[in-house]
Amino acid sequence: MINRENLMKTETLEEAISLLFNRISTGRACIFTQEAMTGCVAIEYDSLGKSGREETYKRIAEDFKRRTGCYGKNHLSFNVGSILEIGCGSGLLTTELAQQTNSDKIIGLDISGYMINLAQSNLSRKSKEEIEKIKEFWERLPEYCKPSQGDYEKLERNPPIFNRIRFVMGSVYSLQDAGFQNINYIVCRNALHRFQYPERALKQMHQALSPTGKIYIRDLRRNANWKTVMERIGEKRWQTQTLVEDYIGAMASMLTTDELEKALHSLGITSFEISDGRYISDGIKSPDNIKEYEQDTEYVCIIQK
Ligand SMILES: C[S@@+](CC[C@H](N)C(=O)[O-])C[C@H]1O[C@@H](n2cnc3c(N)ncnc32)[C@H](O)[C@@H]1O
Repeated sequence: MINRENLMKTETLEEAISLLFNRISTGRACIFTQEAMTGCVAIEYDSLGKSGREETYKRIAEDFKRRTGCYGKNHLSFNVGSILEIGCGSGLLTTELAQQTNSDKIIGLDISGYMINLAQSNLSRKSKEEIEKIKEFWERLPEYCKPSQGDYEKLERNPPIFNRIRFVMGSVYSLQDAGFQNINYIVCRNALHRFQYPERALKQMHQALSPTGKIYIRDLRRNANWKTVMERIGEKRWQTQTLVEDYIGAMASMLTTDELEKALHSLGITSFEISDGRYISDGIKSPDNIKEYEQDTEYVCIIQK
């Protein structure tokens, strides 16, 4: 059983790892051999995302647009090209990216079939909600401009976000083999640390970009203040041992920003900027009951071709 009190008393990540996994670690350590998130870890990640984190995904999508210069919905019908989210999990951010941009091609890619299934069902749910909202709006229109029965049928056949998003099971290491190329925007949020071989992943992502494309990486820093990281774990995870292990185990494989910088240089990638993770999204506020800690624990890296 997890000893919460002792874990909360740990002063460093290394101390927590030694307590939880009975192993000594210095530097980056991949504690989990399986990269794919499946089973209860996937279910809980999805449920944590849906219960109160919807605003967080909105803010991340907004932050992505601000930092990459990707146009949002308010730029009328401007199509921003393709957006590929790598390690999309249950697709909560992917769907938000579709709602906030006019991209006509949004792909969520994940190595876990389990996550891809969750993503498909989240998308169906969101699509139904969108259809209902549109119908409610149509109902309120004056008689002379009410949509026809045909319009209603078309809406059901072609839900507004459904046909712009595709979820695909696949690995970041095989982007070239899978034919991903000329992508305008690649998004990778809280996934880089799940990759055993971050350099290989970064190389594949960079190769898949269009000549003017941009990569948006947002992740936690392994060397973030440990006390803050432990606060960020949240109440819900403490109820399940696997989730606490997953959270702390995942921290061990996070990169520091120095390591990321070094990895990019080793690949000959020089056009990038790393900054702290504060959300640049003035309009959307986090719910009062959720502390984000993004400024203290996360970094954002924007890479250009
Ligand atoms: C922590 S989740 C992040 C999900 C999502 N980006 C979000 O912010 O909600 C990380 C995801 O990366 C996926 N993943 C791990 N290794 C991968 C790989 N080699 N290729 C693609 N996805 C991978 C996992 O299955 C998991 O769903």
